[in-house]
Amino acid sequence: MTRRIIIDTDPGQDDAVAILLALASPPEITVEAIVACAGNVPLALTASNARKICELAGRPDIPVYAGCPGPMAARPLVTAEHVHGSTGLNGPDLPEPTMPLQPRHGVDFLIDTLRAEPRGALTLCALGPLTNIAMALIKAPDIASRIREIVLMGGGYFEGGNITPTAEFNFYVDPHAADIVFRSGVPIVMQPLDVTHRVLTTPDRLGRLRAIPTRAAAAVVAMLTFSERFDLDKYGSAGAPLHDPCVTAYLIRPELFSGRHINVEIETMSPLTIGMSVADFWRVTKRAPNALFIREVDDAGFYALLEERLARLP
Ligand code: BDR
Ligand code: CA
Repeated sequence: MTRRIIIDTDPGQDDAVAILLALASPPEITVEAIVACAGNVPLALTASNARKICELAGRPDIPVYAGCPGPMAARPLVTAEHVHGSTGLNGPDLPEPTMPLQPRHGVDFLIDTLRAEPRGALTLCALGPLTNIAMALIKAPDIASRIREIVLMGGGYFEGGNITPTAEFNFYVDPHAADIVFRSGVPIVMQPLDVTHRVLTTPDRLGRLRAIPTRAAAAVVAMLTFSERFDLDKYGSAGAPLHDPCVTAYLIRPELFSGRHINVEIETMSPLTIGMSVADFWRVTKRAPNALFIREVDDAGFYALLEERLARLP
């Protein structure tokens, strides 16, 4: 049976690939809507980028909403133009979107939709800071028991952080939101840096994507060629990590991934480690498990899936 999903996202080149992978993947998943959050770049750009991606995939029918413009607590928005470029989606030359942005606030859309749909009908895919989802949970706590699962990219433990020595970007931008989500009782699947740093776009893999004769694949190659220049310098690895597509790939082929059900808590107080995901991987506390922490991935299988699915798009 198809998984019905709502994607909350701050595109971002890797968000874009995650969205394209989802849009190319019926019957396994059906994208009901996209909600933009602030993160890689400010909200006006992520809301525009989300629509550019829908149009690139030939899906201007997907409703796109804008959520919150910044973190939920008094904390300035941290963005990542140094990685993603000034638009967040630098690389391909995509036209300005013509499809409309939905007028309703993204948080209200999440609440109304979760209340209107049968319990457990919808999965949330979170590809950016968790502000919108946490705000919805605060405004309408009754929705927690209606969400089937939150599958998210965020955090890191053994791998450390990527924006501070201990914090991953999405959790660092809005640590209070991440904390609320991890305390919500909603089943969580977490794709941390520990796994995304093993999903590397090597020159060989980029070459195979380049051979796919679709405009979506050409745009993906341009995006990844742009975003890798920063990561290759930073990590000195064989390719740049592809973070957010791990979320949508998990929903299509969960058998590509494995992990452990453990307790994960988010640091919100310490100036030194704010945004850190403290993962009790070895179960050394009695804190109840609240997340499936993914640690292993079949990265060859992941890229085979990506190639196969991108070939389906226009
Ligand atoms: C996460 O941060 C963003 O820059 C990426 O889009 C991804 O969601 C990785 O830390
Ligand atoms: Ca993202």
